[in-house]
Amino acid sequence: MKEKKLQEHIKEKHKSAANLKHTAGKHDAKDAKTKIIKFKIQRFDAAKDKKDDAPRYDTFELEVKDGTTLLDCLDLIKWKHDGSLTYRRNCKNSICGSCSMKVNKRTKLACETQVHKITETFCSDEILIEPMGNMAPVKDLVVDMGNFWAALHAIKPWIVHDGNFPEKEFTMKKEDAKKLDAVASCIMCGACYSDCNTLDVEKRFLGPAALAHALRYVDDPRDTRKKERLRALNKPGNHGVWDCTHCFACIQVCPMKVAPMEQILKIRKYAQQSGMIFNPGARHHKAFSDGVKHAGWINEVTLPVKSVGLNIIGFFQLAPVGMRMYFKGKMPDVWHKPIVGAEEIKKIYLELEKKEMSNKLDIKEPELFEHRNPNKE
Ligand code: SF4
Ligand code: SF4
Ligand code: FES
Repeated sequence: MKEKKLQEHIKEKHKSAANLKHTAGKHDAKDAKTKIIKFKIQRFDAAKDKKDDAPRYDTFELEVKDGTTLLDCLDLIKWKHDGSLTYRRNCKNSICGSCSMKVNKRTKLACETQVHKITETFCSDEILIEPMGNMAPVKDLVVDMGNFWAALHAIKPWIVHDGNFPEKEFTMKKEDAKKLDAVASCIMCGACYSDCNTLDVEKRFLGPAALAHALRYVDDPRDTRKKERLRALNKPGNHGVWDCTHCFACIQVCPMKVAPMEQILKIRKYAQQSGMIFNPGARHHKAFSDGVKHAGWINEVTLPVKSVGLNIIGFFQLAPVGMRMYFKGKMPDVWHKPIVGAEEIKKIYLELEKKEMSNKLDIKEPELFEHRNPNKE
């Protein structure tokens, strides 16, 4: 009974809070453009609500000055309207990676998101705020990031060096250090994981951030387990690099320009260059590419067959699809005729292949590192 009364009291408080108007933004910015913005915020409490209940939203209205961040607005809502609103934040400077949340369905850092810009982009003065995706909500905008951290742990994010150690410190060539820059900027905000489309359907996928970090260790000249790492990342059962569908979402949402998908593609390339081509993903990739190189377009007849490889069960799984296509008149032409301009496409391929060869990862295993021992230079 007491609990019910308390809930009603909180509900009433939310209602009245929604009608209050406070000004968010620096008060010395007198000339700054100001407008009333509605914040529709998803509410949830794992301790009380059921996971499958329909999402609940509260709307708060603030008068917001141009240049104000979403985090400033959330702070104002919490301090002036509803102290129970829960979200993570710390640095307010896009450094700690704590304040990721979905803003109009796209994950962003609240501390670097200017609300006026959002309203202009979406042509609406109402902003929808929800917790990150692909992670279970705990309370309001706070999610359980356990799977994100577990994926990171799975790629062994530490340097393993099996060879001789130099007497003093390891030294690294400038160009080798540069390769690590992009991933080193990751602030573990989880935005890429939240918006990853593969994770929507395959929770075991390691995800963009962990795979980007995996490349960081493959590229690190001090690490001597490159092949072992590549093998693990390529193994289909490990849900590594071949689960990515190249949707670009992680590149779009990453606030630090880590470009996780690009790092995933580099791992695939390294693995293929090292002869790790006997898995469905690598075979599909090669069959796709060979078709385009040969005739300027994909060969829809051989693509699924080559992707499956010498796998009897795989062939039987393909058969019903092939039959259905045949009876619906959708069977592609078995003669894979080149399109107009196919020769030009082939030339592009040959140029790219030359370039790829010069960028090949040189894996020596074990890599003893002696040539970079400062005491011997
Ligand atoms: S590109 Fe790949 S890793 Fe990135 S979000 Fe899409 S499916 Fe996920
Ligand atoms: S890769 Fe980018 S989006 Fe993903 S966790 Fe790191 S900083 Fe965040
Ligand atoms: S509060 Fe630290 S990144 Fe936003």
